[in-house]
Amino acid sequence: MDSPPQLQNFFESCQRRIEAVLSDEIKQCDASHSLREAMAYACLDGGKRIRPVLVYGANRALGGNMADADPAAAAVELMHSYSLIHDDLPAMDDDDLRRGKASVHKAFDEAIAILAGDALQSLAFAVLAETCRSRTAVTRLKQIQVLASAVGANGMVGGQCLDCCATGSEASLQALEALHRLKTGALIRASILLGAHSADGVSDQQLADFQLYADCIGLAFQIQDDILDVTADTASLGKPQGSDQHNDKTTYVSLLGLEQAKSKASELTGQAISALTHFGSEADLLRELAAFITSRAS
Ligand code: IPE
Ligand code: IPE
Ligand code: MG
Ligand code: MG
Ligand code: MG
Repeated sequence: MDSPPQLQNFFESCQRRIEAVLSDEIKQCDASHSLREAMAYACLDGGKRIRPVLVYGANRALGGNMADADPAAAAVELMHSYSLIHDDLPAMDDDDLRRGKASVHKAFDEAIAILAGDALQSLAFAVLAETCRSRTAVTRLKQIQVLASAVGANGMVGGQCLDCCATGSEASLQALEALHRLKTGALIRASILLGAHSADGVSDQQLADFQLYADCIGLAFQIQDDILDVTADTASLGKPQGSDQHNDKTTYVSLLGLEQAKSKASELTGQAISALTHFGSEADLLRELAAFITSRAS
């Protein structure tokens, strides 16, 4: 990963931490052998873990305790892993490779893939509802509300629906931005907000700043994903390069061209960093993360 040393260390420690938390949660899951195996296959040992890193980053920017952010970090990654399983299904993007290995419906079968996704989604809410040291019932309820509204019809699933319906027809830039903000931006925004709610006493001003930051990096993240679909290769992506073109998707690159898509992404990075002006060095990791999102190569 090509990122500054401070961010690199933080990333690696978050990645190790979330792997252990997720592995414990899945081990405790009393499901049939193949269902639990598919859940573990989908969410352990792979992926960049950007959403948990954002949870821990927001928690750190508010001087929070990492352990208090574990449930939120696990919940967003479980939710994300479920969304990837369903995204790859033949009825959606029909992609056979994910995180460098066969997609879940290929490694298992379609029924198990659908069910593993469903089970990961409900596990995400179960984990958020768990009691944990300093998280009060009010905090847990708030976090459940934030996640539920981010991933449902008015968030990620609504965006995926627009994405599927738009396939094959050229969307306007405005419509594409709305779609990207839902299908990808909503869970990224939720990651930041859940991290903020895992620390004590976040102020309204801090929440507003975080929301603006998250909205910018959320859109930038999907634009970079569209860019990488064109510029990267399958081996480094761990998923099929060219999937968007193959599926006739409208993307930032197909609408604006590569150079303008890149400049839109870097403009959003600048706006994200500017949104954090009220924060001091405790938010440096979030600033570096904003830059990483548009400089990443996979
Ligand atoms: C891929 O997300 C799906 C999108 C929302 C664009 P990531 O690029 O975060 O995938 P992993 O978790 O690293 O595999
Ligand atoms: C997927 O977007 C977004 C969600 C899974 C919610 P993409 O279809 O662009 O993601 P990749 O490129 O397959 O990872
Ligand atoms: Mg898709
Ligand atoms: Mg896809
Ligand atoms: Mg993509």
